[in-house]
Amino acid sequence: MSYPLQVKLVDVGPRDGLQNEKQLVPAAIKIELVHRLQAAGLKEIEVTSFVSPKWVPQMADNAEVMAGIARQPGVRYSVLTPNLKGFEAALLSKPDEIVVFGSASEAFSQKNINCSIAESIERFAPVVAAARAAGIFVRGAMSCAVGCPYEGDIAPERVDYLAGLMKGIGVQHVGVADTIGVGTPLKVQRAMEATLKHFDINQVSGHFHDTYGQALANTLICLQMGVWQFDTSVAGLGGCPYAKGATGNVATEDVVYLLHGMGIETGIDLDQLINAGQFISDYLGRPSNSRAGKALFNQRLTS
Ligand code: HMG
Ligand code: MG
Repeated sequence: MSYPLQVKLVDVGPRDGLQNEKQLVPAAIKIELVHRLQAAGLKEIEVTSFVSPKWVPQMADNAEVMAGIARQPGVRYSVLTPNLKGFEAALLSKPDEIVVFGSASEAFSQKNINCSIAESIERFAPVVAAARAAGIFVRGAMSCAVGCPYEGDIAPERVDYLAGLMKGIGVQHVGVADTIGVGTPLKVQRAMEATLKHFDINQVSGHFHDTYGQALANTLICLQMGVWQFDTSVAGLGGCPYAKGATGNVATEDVVYLLHGMGIETGIDLDQLINAGQFISDYLGRPSNSRAGKALFNQRLTS
């Protein structure tokens, strides 16, 4: 069994994390979080989403946050765009990458973006074309790739179908997302295999919520398949307002601890990452959801 020598992590905390907070987090805090993530060595940050503020008020400050970031060379900043309206607004903020987000489950597609899977692809197609014409990289998120809060288990054939549609409209990379964190390694492996029928190993990533404590195991099985790109979230923030009961993404700190412990490089300074996690956890007034983050932070206090 061989593991990748290097892994790329996209920290989705400012977006997936803060979209799910009950209280509105000020733009200045989001900007500071992005600054702390890049100081920790993150080279990919999912900053915000250009969605309807009626649907997700937490992301209404998208343009302000993008404008406030002191961009660091070598760091790429991505944003979610569900339709042309969102893309046109996003364009003014000069993202390096946009994310169209579809679902392997019909019911979740309806709840999250108010249209069927087929309609979502029709909406994404002009967004993808416009982004690529503007030289912006296009990633696709495939929600509910193993389970859905409304439909239960999702068969790999559904992922196969969605991945094929994404490929067909010119999406350059897809993330296999376990939106509600119900997946276990073999199910995740099957969803990933279905995706690999359409995208090569360098064009796929894992996006695992940790509701049932399976996200690290799911990450490990993907590493064993050769997958080397993952979305993670500082302090384990995250969730989706339209996926009830889902908790945060796997914590970036925990994945970095796992990878460094296996001799896999990330370019991330775990110490500084813990500071970033502590900063946002202090602001939110609750302990970090990262096990490694908490353990290492406590070790600092006692040493
Ligand atoms: P809709 O109501 O069907 O849209 O929502 P519409 O086209 O009929 O427009 C309705 C109103 O929204 C209009 O305004 C539009 O202008 C406005 P009004 O005339 O009523 O004043 N509007 C917009 N405003 C700003 N930005 C836009 C935009 N589009 C329309 N882009 C829509 C459809 C997709 C807009 C809506 O359902 C939506 O915004 N959904 C987003 C939900 C969301 O953000 N979910 C969380 C992100 S996905 C996620 O977390 C999963 C992920 O992490 C992977 C995983 O874990 O699975 C990525
Ligand atoms: Mg998510």
